[in-house]
Amino acid sequence: MAHLFVSNQPTAAVGEWRSPKARMRCEDLRVRFGDREVLRGVSLDMGRNEVTAVIGPAGAGKSTFLRCLNRMVEANHHCEVQGRVLLDGEDIHAPGVDAVRFRGRIGMVFPKPNPYPKSIYENVAYGLRIHGLVSCKSEESSLVELVFRQAGLWREFGRRLLAPALSLTPGEQQRLCIARALAVNPEVILMDEPCSSLDLGSGAKIEQMIDELRQAYTIVLVSHSLKSAARVSQRTAFIREGRLVEVGPTAMMFTAPSHPLTDRFISGYSE
Ligand SMILES: Nc1ncnc2c1ncn2[C@@H]1O[C@H](COP(=O)(O)OP(=O)(O)O)[C@@H](O)[C@H]1O
Ligand SMILES: [Mg+2]
Repeated sequence: MAHLFVSNQPTAAVGEWRSPKARMRCEDLRVRFGDREVLRGVSLDMGRNEVTAVIGPAGAGKSTFLRCLNRMVEANHHCEVQGRVLLDGEDIHAPGVDAVRFRGRIGMVFPKPNPYPKSIYENVAYGLRIHGLVSCKSEESSLVELVFRQAGLWREFGRRLLAPALSLTPGEQQRLCIARALAVNPEVILMDEPCSSLDLGSGAKIEQMIDELRQAYTIVLVSHSLKSAARVSQRTAFIREGRLVEVGPTAMMFTAPSHPLTDRFISGYSE
């Protein structure tokens, strides 16, 4: 595996990492696994009602970055995290931050669809119950319907709520996982290569969903596909070897990047 400690790499992000629309902010985020520094001082704002795409080569630290935003990275005991992550100005590591309540504010979607091995209905209802959002069965079924409607999936799933989630196609499963993430009414949705295991048609449906969800949420999207990032995001951040090389409006990043490393990554990439 390539060694990550490469010296003389750029340290400052070209472009403005701050955004007037910031809902989430990372300041000088550093992550170590043992003696390996995987994130090396990333500062980045992620704005409300927009999709921030995070692009970069495999092993750059994109997934690790995403996992810092919901404190998932800390589940690894060999991991050391430094720097600050703010959600609506509140430090998510501050003493007294209730981890369960906090996780409800941030939804996550993974590269491989991972629905619970239960019914379509249960995949959404479960989160509602564990977060204490429903008090009786009829309220639960109304809210499940509302979640599917908000996700734009009621037509697709409403008539087969009791079917096993695992009987769905991978694309359907991933859309269900997005609905599941929405159930607990999060503010931010983190998506780690959500289309990477899907065919093009299913990927396009997820992209369309992301575009609609942006109206109501802050979305951070790690994408292995530059074309997909270009289509669906408003801001793009390029991470390489644990550092933010450049961030800017997506249209600019893909047509006239400021940093030669971004230029090389964008133009050298083939799909
Ligand atoms: N739990 C872990 N323990 C040790 N090293 C890890 C762990 N998770 C990720 N890494 C290392 O951190 C680097 C960045 O990984 P990752 O964030 O998954 O990159 P990306 O998502 O950009 O491909 C990789 O070299 C990877 O091997
Ligand atoms: Mg990854």
